[in-house]
Amino acid sequence: MTAILAEGLYAYYGTTPAVNGLDLTVADGATYGFLGPNGAGKTTTISMLTTLLKPTAGRAEVAGFDVAARPAEVRRRIGIVFQESTLDMDLTAVENLRFQADLCGLTRRAARAAISGMLDMMELTERGDTPVRQFSTGLRRRLEIARGLLGNPRVLFLDEPTTGLDAQTRAAVWEHLNRLRREEGITVFFTTHQLEEAEHCDRIAIFDRGKVITEGSPAELKSIIGADRVVLRTEDDARAAGALSERFGLVAEPTPDGLRLRVSDGATLVPRLCTDLGLAVRSVTVTSPTLDDVFLHHTGTTIRESGSGAGTLSNIGEGLR
Ligand SMILES: Nc1ncnc2c1ncn2[C@@H]1O[C@H](COP(=O)(O)OP(=O)(O)OP(=O)(O)O)[C@@H](O)[C@H]1O
Ligand SMILES: [Mg+2]
Repeated sequence: MTAILAEGLYAYYGTTPAVNGLDLTVADGATYGFLGPNGAGKTTTISMLTTLLKPTAGRAEVAGFDVAARPAEVRRRIGIVFQESTLDMDLTAVENLRFQADLCGLTRRAARAAISGMLDMMELTERGDTPVRQFSTGLRRRLEIARGLLGNPRVLFLDEPTTGLDAQTRAAVWEHLNRLRREEGITVFFTTHQLEEAEHCDRIAIFDRGKVITEGSPAELKSIIGADRVVLRTEDDARAAGALSERFGLVAEPTPDGLRLRVSDGATLVPRLCTDLGLAVRSVTVTSPTLDDVFLHHTGTTIRESGSGAGTLSNIGEGLR
């Protein structure tokens, strides 16, 4: 089944399109990353998919229901974690969750069970009676995720769930999200401009100016760019270039830094070079393509306002194991 489907989706603010003809398919149970810089239209997309903003044109279905025609059915099946915190700082964690349980229409008893289950899952049980004002940013985020899950959604939307979190807290949030997905089979759709978060996705869309620039699995995106870059210095680069061509069938480009090669798997080539080239290797560097490279490849510009990370596509596959 398809958890999220968008066909020719547009959102205009005045005469400017914030979402400009979006086509999207997210499989049930998938974790889908929507990666784009500030102002790309990520929040606008989530607003339409979660029935908070009416599409100007096109259509979308979430959990099998049309967002414009059947918004109540959609709302019953989704959870939302907004980009900006919407917790009530003066209330405790439990009180915030109870408020949400009321909105979900849970009975008192069902609410009590759901709240205690969620606090447990997000490891917040001991802080249930603490006013949210005293929570760190990371704890607040976890509480917001707990709140998003209260209605037992099939699809969870998270708008930049980890922006502003330090690396350790971000890892903790992902640990919880990955567990949810394993244990509950929930579909997770999240936006980010942190390159390294792509490692948690089954599929990624790279999105800018209201359009998907490219879409695929992390491995597919890597294969578009293709290659690792290897820069090699030997005792005699001219002879090395000849040997690379004859013995390895590789075209080496001389640069001031050494011979530059593009190969599919730099890590396995390097040991072979050292043993089979027949020349002493002085230095070698291997660089894997980054999502920034993918962005550059498709748009001619680097990703704007990217996060601190330089997550490489080589480590992206790790989240899939
Ligand atoms: N209510 C609004 N009225 C007018 N323009 C808007 C409104 N909301 C967003 N925009 C514009 O639409 C574009 C997309 O905004 P959106 O918030 O969807 O981007 P985003 O990808 O979520 O960005 P960020 O990473 O900063 O959260 C931007 O140019 C923004 O200025
Ligand atoms: Mg946004």
